[in-house]
Amino acid sequence: MGKEIVLSGIRATGNLHLGNYYGALSKFVRMQDDYDCLFFIADLHALTTSPDPKQLHENVKNIICEYLAAGLDPEKATIFVQSDVPEIPELYLLLNMHVGIGELMRTASFKDKARKQLGIKSESEDIEKEIIGTDSNKRVNAGLLTYPTLMAVDILIQKAHKVPVGKDQEQHLELTRRFARRFNSFYGVDLFPEPTNFDFGGAPVKVPGLDGSGKMGKSEGNCIYLIDDEKVLRKKVMRATTDTGPTEPGQAVSAPVENLFTLLELTSTPEVVKHYRDAYADCSIRYGDLKKQLAEDILKVTLPIRERYMEIRGDEEYLGRVVKAGAEKARERASKTLKEAREIMGIRKFY
Ligand code: ADP
Ligand code: TRP
Repeated sequence: MGKEIVLSGIRATGNLHLGNYYGALSKFVRMQDDYDCLFFIADLHALTTSPDPKQLHENVKNIICEYLAAGLDPEKATIFVQSDVPEIPELYLLLNMHVGIGELMRTASFKDKARKQLGIKSESEDIEKEIIGTDSNKRVNAGLLTYPTLMAVDILIQKAHKVPVGKDQEQHLELTRRFARRFNSFYGVDLFPEPTNFDFGGAPVKVPGLDGSGKMGKSEGNCIYLIDDEKVLRKKVMRATTDTGPTEPGQAVSAPVENLFTLLELTSTPEVVKHYRDAYADCSIRYGDLKKQLAEDILKVTLPIRERYMEIRGDEEYLGRVVKAGAEKARERASKTLKEAREIMGIRKFY
């Protein structure tokens, strides 16, 4: 009793990669012993960009299996699927009455995703005009606009205190705090706590891509997936972008090579990292060796996850049991909060 409540989720849009693992999932695993944890699969959020009825269920299943394979323990943490908690969409409707269209339209993730969907490349183009235009109307859905409301409800309906997410989600958390404050002050209540991000000390990690870009991401096509098999994974690492190598002692490290060092720092020991940093500094480094080492160290993290994933993926009965128990627990608190919110807003029954 009295443990702080932790909640986080990942959208069901594919398989998880090293970025998701170091930015989110590995933190979930480390938190489950010390907090009252709820981790879920955001399938409703997946609908805001890629509604695909054939893929959705498989994607949800992938993430349940990846959560479990990476070490989330249903005895310690509540693991559930967002759409199994109908209280969430109901509170989402109610909270939307306190959210401005303007603040949603100014959200960075909305502008990015809307731009992508409309095929707009330049930052300067007036996306509002494009969105309002009849044709484009069809392509940017209202669900995408109200994405932050739904995310806020995921968090507020459980009255969560801590939300472990990557840096890219911080604006959404800021909005969640703003909506909580606004609701509380409008009705003169103290219903929702204001949640904060959580990291174990240090700055939030940003896992780089293998193609020289700053971020590993599903849509960037530069990912190492937790379930990549050994051959595929080695090939990806060996093909990672580098440069022609240092020619002068102490030369600055280029961005693509620094990315490889960042990945090595995440997966390897400090001694190994030092060895390659020193080899870079005195120009004796061979990128082939660095990559072989990196592939080995990544495999040490991912192979056990892959193995466990393969074991449980076919066990529908087990997966069903986990998320059924999770949904029941998640609904307990959610229905209590929803009831309170309805009362506060003046929604009362005649019968
Ligand atoms: P993607 O960017 O691949 O679509 P999501 O947006 O579904 O991934 O992110 C799920 C979680 O993983 C979020 O908490 C996000 O901050 C984290 N995350 C995603 N990519 C990275 C990365 N490259 N480095 C660190 N964290 C990441
Ligand atoms: N928006 C998050 C992402 O893209 C996923 C998410 C939905 C979430 N609801 C949440 C994360 C609530 C934490 C808490 O990664």
